[in-house]
Amino acid sequence: MSLTLAIARERTNGESRTALSPETAKKFIALGAHIRMEQSAGIESHFLDPDYSAVEFVPGLPEAYAAAQLILRVAPPSTAEIAAMPEGSVLIGLLKPFESKERLAALNARRITAFALELLPRISRAQSMDALSSQGACAGYQCGLIAAARCTKFFPMLTTAAGTIRPARVLVIGAGVAGLQAIATCKRLGAMVEAYDVRAAAKEQIESLGAKFVDTGVSADGRGGYARELSADEKAAQAEKLTKAIAAADVVICTAAIPGKKAPQIITRDMVGRMKYGAIIIDMAAESGGNCELTQPGEHVIANDVHIHGPLNLPSRMPTHASELYAKNLYNFLSPAIKEGQLQLDWSDEVIAGTALCHNGATVNATVKQILGDA
Ligand code: NAI
Repeated sequence: MSLTLAIARERTNGESRTALSPETAKKFIALGAHIRMEQSAGIESHFLDPDYSAVEFVPGLPEAYAAAQLILRVAPPSTAEIAAMPEGSVLIGLLKPFESKERLAALNARRITAFALELLPRISRAQSMDALSSQGACAGYQCGLIAAARCTKFFPMLTTAAGTIRPARVLVIGAGVAGLQAIATCKRLGAMVEAYDVRAAAKEQIESLGAKFVDTGVSADGRGGYARELSADEKAAQAEKLTKAIAAADVVICTAAIPGKKAPQIITRDMVGRMKYGAIIIDMAAESGGNCELTQPGEHVIANDVHIHGPLNLPSRMPTHASELYAKNLYNFLSPAIKEGQLQLDWSDEVIAGTALCHNGATVNATVKQILGDA
């Protein structure tokens, strides 16, 4: 019997991506998988059922999951959705591993082997599977577009019959995957861009995109290529230098994050008070609390005539390409493990072991256990 792979419609509010594209469906079938998909599961990404050839369509989630051995998702499943998963099945998605002990308990109660792509080791071999990067690029691009659309100034310099318009000044805080894409997008639109990050490697990456690096003298590289949390002294040094750059900006795009932790608070109420009237903040870190003290996740707040946006799930605003990339990440992760139409996970592979969240009824990721405790 061949591997039964299941996809249901994403039911999380605001989620318009899907975990299977017509292209990856074809590739999984070529590896010998049988695909069972809930009707219209790809519709919000503009993939219609007839686009998926040789896929079996079923009316609802229970039918899709009924005999599933492997379940592909974008957002984490609800407890009710977990209850519909066959005991011992394998689940993969962006499972927000640090968010909910209850979800882990529900997965472990059904002995689901769960892979959370947020935990994927950031090694060269795994780049094609890196959903944080593919979705981060979508989010950063969206930040640039929202900023340009909301800004009350032109982004580029313009020479007109009525006089010359100076380009808008954009400051990007956090130059990881999303921040670098926001820088590139704002540069393409002609803005004057400055950027800041605490990782030493970021300076060169920022400058290679033609933006100016804001040097605060703080360097805070942590484990696995990520930033670490700053000490109180480092925070003070950062704030002193950044205040000036923030006050001069027309647009501030915030993307600073530390995996598994609340986003660092970088822009204080006082700094907002010193910003230009009409300036805007696009706080992509809203998802994990925000880089600005005044950010309200999912809301638009106005303080001292500064407009603070806290958009959530930015990749969902461009679901077609976000889903295509995400679906490819999943295929690249899973395809080496599908042999003769069966899933054969190699637990000695650091990519498989490192991405595992739950297995055999227990939470297996050390960082998740350290942060959430045993579930
Ligand atoms: P992220 O989303 O966790 O964080 C975003 C950015 O915020 C990071 O660049 C981080 O340094 C920065 N940040 C954290 N605290 C800050 C603070 N107080 N002030 C200013 N900036 C702060 O990171 P992301 O984008 O997911 O990846 C981080 C890095 O991981 C990449 O830039 C890269 O070095 C590495 N990476 C490696 C890959 C590989 O295959 N080798 C693939 C993708 C990323």
